[in-house]
Amino acid sequence: MRDYSEIYDKGDLGLWVDITTYCNASCPQCHRTNPDGLGKANWLPLLQWDIKTFKKYITREVLNSCDNLEFCGTWGDPFMNKDIWKICEYIIKESKAKIKCNTNGSFRNPDWWWDLGVLCGDRLTCYFDIDGIDQETHSKYRRGTDLELIKENLVSLAATKAYVKIFTVLFKHNQDQLADIMELGKECGAESIYVVPSDRFHWRVTPWTFINEDGEEEDLHKSDWDQREFQRTFKLNRRNIERVREYASQR
Ligand SMILES: C[S@@+](CC[C@H](N)C(=O)[O-])C[C@H]1O[C@@H](n2cnc3c(N)ncnc32)[C@H](O)[C@@H]1O
Ligand code: SF4
Repeated sequence: MRDYSEIYDKGDLGLWVDITTYCNASCPQCHRTNPDGLGKANWLPLLQWDIKTFKKYITREVLNSCDNLEFCGTWGDPFMNKDIWKICEYIIKESKAKIKCNTNGSFRNPDWWWDLGVLCGDRLTCYFDIDGIDQETHSKYRRGTDLELIKENLVSLAATKAYVKIFTVLFKHNQDQLADIMELGKECGAESIYVVPSDRFHWRVTPWTFINEDGEEEDLHKSDWDQREFQRTFKLNRRNIERVREYASQR
C-alpha cells in the first residue's frame, strides 16, 4: 500500500472539501435538516469558505498534489457557496485536478451552468439529484426544489464537455418511477445514474416520521426493492432502463 507522502508527491491525492453549510432545500433525512418542521438543524452554524480562505488552505502546492477535489458536502450544497465559481476557476487555472460535485441543482440558471461547463470542460463531473419524474414525487424528499429548473440546468451543463450524472435516493414512494427517472436523465443528456436506497432509516425504523413545513406529520417508507441490486451506478442505456422497468413490473 502506498503511503500518504508518495500519493502527495505523485499528485494522486483525492480531497473531500466541505465548503458550505448553506442549502436552499430541506430534505427531511439530511443531517442539516431539523425533522421537526424542516428548518435548519438548530446546532448547525451557517458557514462558507470564501475564495480567500479556500486559497489559504488549498494552496497551489496542495492543488498540484491533487488528482481530484470533491465538493459533495455533508452539511450543505456546494453550489450555495457564494464563491463556487471563483473556487472552480482557481482549481482549473492553477492545476490539472478534476472537480467532482453533487447538487440538488435547483438554483442559478441554465446560462450559469453552461458557463461553468465551458470553464471546467471534461474536468468537471456533476451529480444532479432527481428523485421523481413529477414535481410532487421529486419534492416529497427534495423539499423546496424545482424539478423543471433542475432539468433545464442539467440539460445546459450536459451540452458542454462536463460529465453529468443523476443521483437518486430510493424510497418506497419513488421506486416505481426509477425506470422513468432513468429515461428522463437520458433525454436530458446525463450519462449514468447512481441509485442509493435511503440509508437513513436508523434501527430499521420505517415509516420514518417527520413534521413538515406546515406542521403536519408525514412519513417516508423504506424501499422494499433488493438493496444489493439497487445501490449502484447504471449507465443510462436502453438495456438498463428496460431491466429496471421489468423488475418493477414483476413486483
Ligand atoms: C448532504 S448532501 C450534499 C450534496 C447536495 N446538497 C445533494 O443533496 O446532492 C450529501 C449526499 O447525501 C445524499 N443523501 C441525501 N439524503 C440521503 C438519504 N436519505 N440516503 C442516502 N443519501 C442521501 C445526497 O443525495 C448527496 O449525495
Ligand atoms: S439538497 Fe443536499 S444538503 Fe440540501 S437538504 Fe438535501 S441532502 Fe441536505
